[in-house]
Amino acid sequence: MVITRTREELYKTLEEFSKRPGKLALIPTMGNLHDGHLSLVRLAKLNASKTITSIFVNPLQFGQNEDFKKYPRTEKLDIKKLKKENCDILFIPKGRDEVFSRFDKVKKLGSGKLGSELCGKIRPGHFDGVLTVVNKLFELINPDAAVFGAKDYQQQILIKHMAKSLHPQISLIKAPIVRSKNGVALSSRNHYLTKKELDVASNLFKCLQNSVNSYHKSKELKEILSNAKTFLVSKNLVPDYFELRDSELKTINSNNFKGNKVFLGSVTINKTRLIDNIEF
Ligand code: PAJ
Repeated sequence: MVITRTREELYKTLEEFSKRPGKLALIPTMGNLHDGHLSLVRLAKLNASKTITSIFVNPLQFGQNEDFKKYPRTEKLDIKKLKKENCDILFIPKGRDEVFSRFDKVKKLGSGKLGSELCGKIRPGHFDGVLTVVNKLFELINPDAAVFGAKDYQQQILIKHMAKSLHPQISLIKAPIVRSKNGVALSSRNHYLTKKELDVASNLFKCLQNSVNSYHKSKELKEILSNAKTFLVSKNLVPDYFELRDSELKTINSNNFKGNKVFLGSVTINKTRLIDNIEF
């Protein structure tokens, strides 16, 4: 695996790889890699002959009182894991300037109305920061494809909209959610929780499953959502939101919706916010 830490090294490596045949797939991450991230690398390898992973904890997507400083950084282990997956290139910028250069003005993107709903309501500006960095990575790397996880459902939809207008040549690949044995979706933020708290957290997935079952049994949507919130509270999980939306994240108000849809939930447990969803 070629490790690149500056724009110059990145460009040089990309030029060399461009001489090889086949497509290049990008897997953007913030590091502290777990099986969820690695499943993206595996999926990328199934879809392209060359893979590049980026590891950059993007300051623009963290709010002032959020965990930018304490976000887990585990470079050595990450490199080991990526080598094992036979990833071809790693872009791990040595500083913010390698992504957002001092010499060119940062092209800040807005995430619109959808960007201020669901997670965006709790984290104002978060998705603007995500779109800004992903757009920059697309500009720097210009991959043929890029892989994003369904775990961050809203992020993946917003990136799809952005890419459609700014990078229509890049095909986006959606990777399914990887969970631990008890159903908790793997996340770097799970490290903030104790074993006991992780057990409690598994009730978010249970709640999503119960809600899908109730929907299939034609229970009133209002009742499903209110039961879900009561269930989460009873398990000591503080619900930030719990909603049913269509697969493009437009609101659904009745039980008669026939198309693809998704229950999405976010809960806080001991100051750590977790998200999960089930598409059906
Ligand atoms: P990060 O949280 O590191 O996630 C990187 C990618 O891994 C995202 O596409 C995310 O959806 C996916 N992922 C995380 N946990 C997963 C799981 N349990 N199963 C499947 N996929 C999972 O998301 C970000 O970083 C950043 O916002 C980023 C897109 C890199 C922009 O900074």
